[in-house]
Amino acid sequence: MNRILVVGGAGYIGSHMVQHLLASGHDVVVVDNLTTGYRDAVVGGELVQMDIGDAAALHNLFAGHRFDAVLHFASFIQVGESVAQPGKYYANNLAATLTLLQAMMQAGVKRFIFSSTAAVYGEPSYVPIDEAHTKRPINPYGRSKWMVEQVLEDFDQAFGLKSVCLRYFNAAGADPAGRLGERHEPETHLIPLILQAASGRRKAVTVFGRDYATPDGTCVRDYIHVSDLVEAHARALKYLEQGGKSAAFNLGNGSGFSVQEVIGTAQRVTGRAIEVVDAPRRPGDPPRLVADATIARKVLGWKPLYPELETILAHAWAWELQWPWGNR
Ligand code: UFG
Repeated sequence: MNRILVVGGAGYIGSHMVQHLLASGHDVVVVDNLTTGYRDAVVGGELVQMDIGDAAALHNLFAGHRFDAVLHFASFIQVGESVAQPGKYYANNLAATLTLLQAMMQAGVKRFIFSSTAAVYGEPSYVPIDEAHTKRPINPYGRSKWMVEQVLEDFDQAFGLKSVCLRYFNAAGADPAGRLGERHEPETHLIPLILQAASGRRKAVTVFGRDYATPDGTCVRDYIHVSDLVEAHARALKYLEQGGKSAAFNLGNGSGFSVQEVIGTAQRVTGRAIEVVDAPRRPGDPPRLVADATIARKVLGWKPLYPELETILAHAWAWELQWPWGNR
């Protein structure tokens, strides 16, 4: 598998993927509309600035290149925003993805790896969550991802498209070599917000709710290193190359950490005091999300290299200390 199209390759996880693919000898073309991605996060390959909702531009792209597979990272990811602006989420995450899939079918590209999410499960009825858990997403973000997963099943039936949906739990951390990291604007994720409070870029970090039914009352999440996510994609590519059938895999470490535990660990890792402000629950946050990733381990032979929260935080901290990244 040699020529790979990475859609959303200028974003957080996509940019780490591009770096990994180039290092392992693939030819890479990145498509990104740069609305939330950064040109300087694309460390190599060819960058084409375009929107995947643009069918004519896609047609030209596929006419000019032969791709063995497409990896799709381009989506909006803010749950709260998806509730307020559902159209934005369905237009990009669902409709534009459909345009991409149709262009792929026209061009005869039959391998696809999709960034899905634990949000497809909704409020879990048990944890750890396995892939068989019911899918009842509770917001437009999660629904848009689950709808694409269903579209992919239909495209397999109709056209033989082989896909792997990777359901990420909480992506975190940064390139261990320090070249890339998380760079959302605005930032809404817990770990970068904690580290911004540690570095002084932000006055404090807010804890959304201390009255959950968890040991310390704060929400529990399964944080997974971005490099481990990327490695799972590389293995999913190999799996499809070897004739694997369409599948969906959870990606997480299988251990949960509370918001309070993440703050405490960040204090130790950074050696800085972190100011904390309490606030009410954020609507739509399930108390506990922890992955059962047994199937990914078995089928893909995947084993996270950086499962420790300390390591995830240390790499993210090294990246935060390089801010402002744009001026490098
Ligand atoms: N949190 C805070 N304070 C903050 C930010 C977050 O207390 O300032 C808490 C949240 O309430 C949550 C936990 O920290 O309990 C993690 O929050 P994140 O926003 O970092 O991540 P989420 O678990 O909400 O969301 C992540 C992805 C989503 C995805 C979801 C489920 O970012 O894209 O997992 O898969 F939908």
